[in-house]
Amino acid sequence: MTTAAQIEELKTLVESGKVLTDADALQTYGKDWTKQYTPAPSAIVFPKTTEQVQAIVRWANQHRIALVPSGGRTGLSAAAVAAHGEVVVSFDYMNRIVEFNEYDRTVVCQPGVVTKQLQLFAEEQGLYYPVDFASSGSSQIGGNIGTNAGGIKVIRYGMTRNWVAGLKVVTGSGELLELNRDLIKNATGYDLRQLFIGAEGTLGFVVEATMRLERAPKNLTAMVLGTPDFDSIMPVLHAFQGKLDLTAFEFFSDKCLDKILARGDVPAPFESRTPFYALLEFEALNEDVANGALATFEHCVEQGWVLDGVMSQSQQQLENLWKLREYISETISHFTPYKNDISVTVGQVPSFLRDIDDIVSANYPDFDVLWYGHIGDGNLHLNILKPEALGKEDFFARCAVVNKWVFEIVEKYNGSISAEHGVGMTKRDYLQYSRSEAEIACMKAIKAVFDPNGIMNPGKIFN
Ligand code: MLT
Ligand code: ZN
Repeated sequence: MTTAAQIEELKTLVESGKVLTDADALQTYGKDWTKQYTPAPSAIVFPKTTEQVQAIVRWANQHRIALVPSGGRTGLSAAAVAAHGEVVVSFDYMNRIVEFNEYDRTVVCQPGVVTKQLQLFAEEQGLYYPVDFASSGSSQIGGNIGTNAGGIKVIRYGMTRNWVAGLKVVTGSGELLELNRDLIKNATGYDLRQLFIGAEGTLGFVVEATMRLERAPKNLTAMVLGTPDFDSIMPVLHAFQGKLDLTAFEFFSDKCLDKILARGDVPAPFESRTPFYALLEFEALNEDVANGALATFEHCVEQGWVLDGVMSQSQQQLENLWKLREYISETISHFTPYKNDISVTVGQVPSFLRDIDDIVSANYPDFDVLWYGHIGDGNLHLNILKPEALGKEDFFARCAVVNKWVFEIVEKYNGSISAEHGVGMTKRDYLQYSRSEAEIACMKAIKAVFDPNGIMNPGKIFN
């Protein structure tokens, strides 16, 4: 806990009014989208410059005060939760796009730039920032880097890591490092930039990031295909990947569609209903490509892998088809679901999903299990809704058991306990299912180098 005198000292490091300690602010900035923790920070500080961030980190070292970085607070692993009297460092006021470099196709951003802001800026330059996900309207670049955010276009463009040309970071000891200097080619030893991507603020804070942009895709076209079972999705993926450069290949179950249609603001893709749906997207660059997609669709129908389908004919229809997938997370969040974000290699997905499904349904037949995710990347989102008859505490106690089964299966498949949401606090105690003891020891040793006093987001990733 911080003392009143320490907070007064903190106030001298930033502009007037940029330290908050009122109950509302503590509640708002002390948490992310995970619901199972009670926020309890000591204060929220809003730096406006790199120098102020450095001063805050030095102050925290001097008094041994834990700092928690805070961006758009849309995380799902509690990496941005302050539940133990920490001081939250919010990047809301470091939200400027600093520079655009035409020849390098790069944008220099402060960490508080919202993902959508970068996407729109890229569009204005006739370019494209391809990392995209449902929370892009709120999430910030610093947070995306902290969790190496993925999303819906990873099959074509990769994760946030691929788009970071350079980083300026303030380490846990208050030092400013300029990492990779935005270079494409740089063979000068360890690429420290990569360590800070996905580190969840445990090594230092990103104070500036140079993000790469890409050629804007042309005539994006989506198809939603209804399949008779989950296994049929895999040959559909294979067939389309053999014909087209896909920009996305997602899936969701009919139970997810139920919830989306119940909202009343998203049209059904087609009249019939099927157990699972694949949503794929590609650039219809010319008529040949669109015809190739239709021929592949027909082939999938002939093989019995697809029962029904639709292809977007307009921007509006494209957006409506995407809503079927993108609205799932927000829509089911009102049911306070148990959530998990796991991955295996693509070829293993069907048996992996079946193993989890079997064990959950055999033990808890009353559980409403919803599957969706980025199947083209081997990334599944497992969500379970609480049965009405079951109390909240009982439900989450049972889900803790489900968690253990899921992670044991992940371990058996050599998969990841967190594909794209991060470890934070929610997965910290399960890290050994995806990382060896030796790897965890290396990670802890790296943390000690950058954060010798253990003040940077302690208790996240590992203890
Ligand atoms: C998604 O793919 O919709 C996001 O990762 C959020 C979620 O898993 O709920
Ligand atoms: Zn996702």
